[in-house]
Amino acid sequence: MVQVNGNYLKLKAGYLFPEIGRRVKAFSEANPTAPIIRLGIGDVTEPLPEACRTAMKGAIDEMGTREGFHGYGPEQGYPWLREAIAKADFQSRGCAVSAEEIFVSDGSKCDSSNILDILGEGNRIAVTDPVYPVYVDSNVMAGRTGDADDAGQYGGLTYLPITASNGFIAPLPEGKVDLIYLCFPNNPTGAVATKAQLKQWVDYALANDALILFDAAYEAFIQDPELPHSIYEIDGARQCAIEFRSFSKNAGFTGTRCALTVVPKGLMGTAANGEKVELWALWNRRQCTKFNGVSYIVQRGAEAVYSAAGQAQVKALVSFYMENAAIIRQELKAAGLTVYGGEQAPYVWIQTPEGQDSWGFFDHLLGNAHVVGTPGSGFGAAGEGYFRLSAFNSRANVEEAMRRIRSL
Ligand code: MLT
Repeated sequence: MVQVNGNYLKLKAGYLFPEIGRRVKAFSEANPTAPIIRLGIGDVTEPLPEACRTAMKGAIDEMGTREGFHGYGPEQGYPWLREAIAKADFQSRGCAVSAEEIFVSDGSKCDSSNILDILGEGNRIAVTDPVYPVYVDSNVMAGRTGDADDAGQYGGLTYLPITASNGFIAPLPEGKVDLIYLCFPNNPTGAVATKAQLKQWVDYALANDALILFDAAYEAFIQDPELPHSIYEIDGARQCAIEFRSFSKNAGFTGTRCALTVVPKGLMGTAANGEKVELWALWNRRQCTKFNGVSYIVQRGAEAVYSAAGQAQVKALVSFYMENAAIIRQELKAAGLTVYGGEQAPYVWIQTPEGQDSWGFFDHLLGNAHVVGTPGSGFGAAGEGYFRLSAFNSRANVEEAMRRIRSL
């Protein structure tokens, strides 16, 4: 009989969001008339920007002609999209990122897991706690951890607790680690790092020959002009960081799929024999073998994000969700809850009321307000006692959910 990858057997329960889905399904089967509002998974609800739709329709028409048909595209993405990204997202902010360093992909979730393909097994890995579960689970699947303990923490990983007492900004590891996952604006806490805080991480990574995997999927939601959107705004980051970005949340591409990963030229890792190896070349090799690129139609849609109309429409979408976040913050505070985040990120991080743990609060809100959120403990042991609400929903649903929570 075929052998399975035993690492999968180390994984705790289901992946967080399917697990929530399972519980919500069971609830709605038992209560078929309950009008459930979902503020759990951070999935967008508003229509795709018109500029993107128009560009995609144009691309479909092109594909219907002999001259405009496109088969396999470049594995790294079409040069016109990579150029647009490099210019608008990086060079405009003073980051020396070139088009060649941008790899267009179908998602940051995939890329942040797939990147492990090019990294060695012996790396000491640091993650925050709570954390976006993909970083941990993909390391477990790849056999880079030991077993989970009773608290759900995996052997071999260094957990950096982020709580209200450190403003949800992880402390530097006490010892030496080789690989660090950072996510700003943060999923799930909504915290964001200043330039000075990111600089400490870059300095740590340079001093310890470590690599930072920087997830900037929510950068478009930053409101304060002083805050960094990219790790490459910090001197030295090109020598120690890979950055992930996505069109999912700013342009509503969660179902359309387009993202990008920046691997700077000259960013080096070490082979077992001590030889220095360029990570760009390994990632390029990996993508060419295992990935056939994002569809031409979708890349044309992503390119339209950078048109004048696209920029205005994306800005409006981001503002819409950030107004939802402000409503959630304000209403929950009025309900007497302690809330964090939601000011530079589309997630509001709530301290659960006295006497209720994360899943207890989940059941309470689902059962009594028919509102679905995400239990903080699902993001890690230090997330216990917290709860996440996503600002991605219609205004009517957000207002109704808040009305129900306030009347509890
Ligand atoms: C979340 O709810 O944390 C997000 O949907 C995660 C993701 O984008 O994969």
